[in-house]
Amino acid sequence: MPIPSTKKRVLSGMRPTGKLHLGNYVGALENWVRMQDEYECFFVIVDWHALTTDYADPSRLQENLVDVLLDWLAAGLDPAKCVIFIQSHVPAHAELHLLLSMITPLGWLERVPTYKEQKENLKEKDLNTYGFLGYPLLQAADILIYQADVVPVGEDQVAHIELTREVARRFNQFYSLTRQQRGRFPAPLGPAHPLYGHNAVFPEPQALLTPAAKLPGTDGRKMSKSYDNTIMLTDPEPVVRQKLKPMVTDPARIRRTDPGNPDVCPVGDLHKIFSSKETMARVYEGCRSAGIGCIECKSWAADAIVKILNPMQERRKKYEDNPRLVWDILDAGSSRAREVAGATMNEVRDSMGLAYKPAKDFTR
Ligand code: TRP
Ligand code: SF4
Repeated sequence: MPIPSTKKRVLSGMRPTGKLHLGNYVGALENWVRMQDEYECFFVIVDWHALTTDYADPSRLQENLVDVLLDWLAAGLDPAKCVIFIQSHVPAHAELHLLLSMITPLGWLERVPTYKEQKENLKEKDLNTYGFLGYPLLQAADILIYQADVVPVGEDQVAHIELTREVARRFNQFYSLTRQQRGRFPAPLGPAHPLYGHNAVFPEPQALLTPAAKLPGTDGRKMSKSYDNTIMLTDPEPVVRQKLKPMVTDPARIRRTDPGNPDVCPVGDLHKIFSSKETMARVYEGCRSAGIGCIECKSWAADAIVKILNPMQERRKKYEDNPRLVWDILDAGSSRAREVAGATMNEVRDSMGLAYKPAKDFTR
């Protein structure tokens, strides 16, 4: 019998959108890497979620998924410390999604803010589909099937975690395991869990908001793939320097002799996130006194970013040169995920009266 983990369980996921940028790193990945030691972590690339909006053209799924995976490993997710897998490699997510759909009122899904917003924003795609309406419920299944305690996400995902909690509560109200049923399965909730020893099937997961370091892109707006203002985790040093050169600065600092203010400058924001205290001090001093020029200041920001990207790119190369390694990681990750998901599904089927078996005296 494996010793039950006393660590709380974390699950989070990303869509397979292709290569990641610095905003993805400070907004999510950096936090995940930190969590690996403290929690039992599951990180999933949600390929089915990608199909909810991009069903018309799945041609780049594999390429995009491998790129996300390489960036995860590059950023420091360590397969020895966390479980890394692909959603569709654990088909039980679909089974739980189906069963949860039975108890989920339509209104709950229609009310999710991202539903109307995305339909507005993605006018070029026809999102009047069953799959798109149901995708927050698929996300709930992703989370609940691992009986996760904590879900690190950005602000935009909070409504989805709230839905997940509501669905868990409703499921637990309708169905729960009798003590006898629970006895048939190894205790799935670790001793650290508040529901440990109780009969509820699903714990209500907590959203853990990533401390929102607002990372500006090169045009001063939020760094985002759709604005074409990103610095990619794979950008080599010359590209990073090239991209920073035309970056927007304090608009009041027109001439080299004008003093500026790093607190209203996107380059100043980059320094706050990536530079050392010493560099920060030199930036504040030099900018406010017009002692430094923006070109020099940007080169210091580039130094700090390159210093973070270098070790990532070395790690990425190791995996790129060795694709076998990547598929082995996925194999191991999905078997572990299937094991945990399978145990939950046994409980789910049992509590819902789906664990059919012959009557006791059926012997002939
Ligand atoms: N919906 C999330 C997004 O668009 C991705 C996601 C899917 C997810 N399943 C998840 C995030 C489970 C956290 C937990 O970013
Ligand atoms: Fe921005 Fe640096 Fe120029 Fe000041 S010196 S305005 S912080 S780029």
